[in-house]
Amino acid sequence: MLTLKKVILAGVCLLAASPMFGWEKDILISTPNTSLLLSAPENEVLKIAYYGEKIGNADVENIYSSGLAFKEQAYPAFGSNGENETALAVQHADGNMSLDLVVKNVFSEEQTDSQITTIVMQDRVYPFIVKVFYKAYKNLDVIETWTEITNGEKKPLTLLRYASAFLPIRQGDVWVSHLHGSWGAEGGVVTEPLRPGMLVVKNHDGVRNSHTSHAEVMISLDGKPTEQTGRVIGAALCWSGNFRLSFDTDYNRVHRFIAGIDWDYSQYSLEPEETFVTPELALTYSMEGLGGASRNFHHWGRETHLAHGSQMRDILLNSWEGVYLDIKEPEMHQMMDDIASMGGELFVMDDGWFGGKYKRNKDNAALGDWVTDKTKLPNDIAGLVNAAKERGIKFGIWIEPEMTNNQSELYEKHPDWIVCEPNREPHPGRGGTQLVLDLSNPDVQDFVFKVVDDLMTANPGIAYIKWDANMNIIDFGSSYLTRDKKSHLYVDFHRGFEKVCQRIREKYPDLVIQACASGGGRANYGVLPYFDEFWVSDNTDALQRIYMQWGTSYFFPAVAMASHVSAAPNHQTGRIIPLKFRFDVAMTGRLGMEIQPKNMTEEEKDFSRKAIATYKEIRPVVQQGDLYRLISPYDKQGVASLMYVAPDKQQAVFYAYKLEHYVNQTIPAFCMAGLDPDKRYRVTELNVTDKQPLTMEGKVFSGRFLMDNGLVLPLRTEYASRVLRLEAVN
Ligand code: DGJ
Repeated sequence: MLTLKKVILAGVCLLAASPMFGWEKDILISTPNTSLLLSAPENEVLKIAYYGEKIGNADVENIYSSGLAFKEQAYPAFGSNGENETALAVQHADGNMSLDLVVKNVFSEEQTDSQITTIVMQDRVYPFIVKVFYKAYKNLDVIETWTEITNGEKKPLTLLRYASAFLPIRQGDVWVSHLHGSWGAEGGVVTEPLRPGMLVVKNHDGVRNSHTSHAEVMISLDGKPTEQTGRVIGAALCWSGNFRLSFDTDYNRVHRFIAGIDWDYSQYSLEPEETFVTPELALTYSMEGLGGASRNFHHWGRETHLAHGSQMRDILLNSWEGVYLDIKEPEMHQMMDDIASMGGELFVMDDGWFGGKYKRNKDNAALGDWVTDKTKLPNDIAGLVNAAKERGIKFGIWIEPEMTNNQSELYEKHPDWIVCEPNREPHPGRGGTQLVLDLSNPDVQDFVFKVVDDLMTANPGIAYIKWDANMNIIDFGSSYLTRDKKSHLYVDFHRGFEKVCQRIREKYPDLVIQACASGGGRANYGVLPYFDEFWVSDNTDALQRIYMQWGTSYFFPAVAMASHVSAAPNHQTGRIIPLKFRFDVAMTGRLGMEIQPKNMTEEEKDFSRKAIATYKEIRPVVQQGDLYRLISPYDKQGVASLMYVAPDKQQAVFYAYKLEHYVNQTIPAFCMAGLDPDKRYRVTELNVTDKQPLTMEGKVFSGRFLMDNGLVLPLRTEYASRVLRLEAVN
């Protein structure tokens, strides 16, 4: 019945930025290993027919003729689609709440690394235009999708919901993995089957969108997820604010997945000719289980959505857990001496260095007053930059520029700059005094930009900024937004934040910037194009970090995960963990230290010195290699294990940790992954503390043996851990 015409292969045969005059109905969008098939007949509804493993023309014919194609709208809008969950809903100026969008045109634009296909849709009655974009990478298995919504009507209209994307997922034994947590326990993995009803993953903090739920999900299509096998779709929303990822499971044959900015309390009015651009949703697909989808995200993140994603990161000492707010110049020098002597490359001075009229001696004052407290630092920041230079290391500094305290000169001068309605008393946050600055206001944007600009202008030697944000939006409101735009705050705050980030990056492209937000509150691909890394959590306990970093690694590469060795007993959990184990955990991410080194013994400093030197050797494999998660801490086998493999498979680094300690405990064999089965690898243990070498020390095994049989490793004591280096030999 269906006459198939020529399939248009986006990514293969289209001219740059050309309208596809007389395009055929079917649009096949492909990456090296994945495809998305759209049905876009002129003046009819845009449908999504398929997303998954790469297909060709013959498959397209079969998909349609065998009834395998989805029949869902690609960007379902409310008002002409029955009761189904929708991605878009509006109220036109005349009060009409319906939309009926049909395809008007299709464009394709060739870029160096990708092909962007644009489907232009218009309402059958109203001049209301929606463009749906699909950006398919040529060398990465990721398709980004987003929309532009334009009000072509004569009067303002209101967007009631405005998701970035919709995806149908065939019902079956489908499971979703997402991250959930709280302060000090970020990135916990939640894995659950999709059941009838709604599963909604959302965050409503207003500022920090990844403390609790994360804006990324893994969707396993073949039952309970496993690491190396099974079909998995991954989705990551590139947005730093409130989000909503939902799965609707009803009598239809598909789960309806909708992802975008959370529209709750955020209806958005669009002026005539105004366009609203939704954030990108990055979609990936892998047949290699969760691990395959993670590696796809890591490659894509490093290459496209992480500042300096392919560059190595410095090994640093951060002052927070060492001295907290008690910043003093001699201690800063001492910490610099210590980290330099241990082989570190960067010292970061955390909170507590600033304040004029109001002093930052506690966490309850001076945010906004970014002047050096000369009683603490008589030689100013410049003195510290020089001191670092003299010691052969770089200098970094902490700021929290989006915030103020009601005890600050900034607040005295600009009480109208905070997030709050002018006729209400704000409810302060941290320290009983903290307030959020209203980034929807361009004057505030200028101020926040200037905080960075002034620091960098006065001290061009600053190499690193830790950008913190320690509060949520409690008092919804803005003195800046006008009556009809009050509900834009949750969105415009983040648009303002993005504008500031863009200005900073234009002027300071080489600066290294960490996204911190009360720990891991800003681990998202909305901010990472401007930030080099994020602080995973304020909890530096090595045991709990194994769980947090495990979950975080589902979506984010090691190079972006700041992971620090801290004191024992740990300041958050009180747990006493050997220094080796603490290093062995921190060395799976961007290694740093968060400790007062003067409290360490000479023996500990010596171990640290050697571990730092070792990390420098394995850094390229850890920070740029492929991650294989081997034994999950969530599987309760008493151990956890993972490894990184260099892209050419010449080198790998393997980690194993004991999580529980019992007499006569059975430790499973550690079967590796990602190696070349035909290569032979020499095994060398790193960070050795045992007197006796491992029985396999220096031995050569085939990659096949290491993957099929694995190694049996002694993990005798509580908090035992092993790190092995594998080097291919000829
Ligand atoms: C919260 C951060 O997560 C910590 O690392 C530290 O920078 C403090 N803020 C400083 O106030």
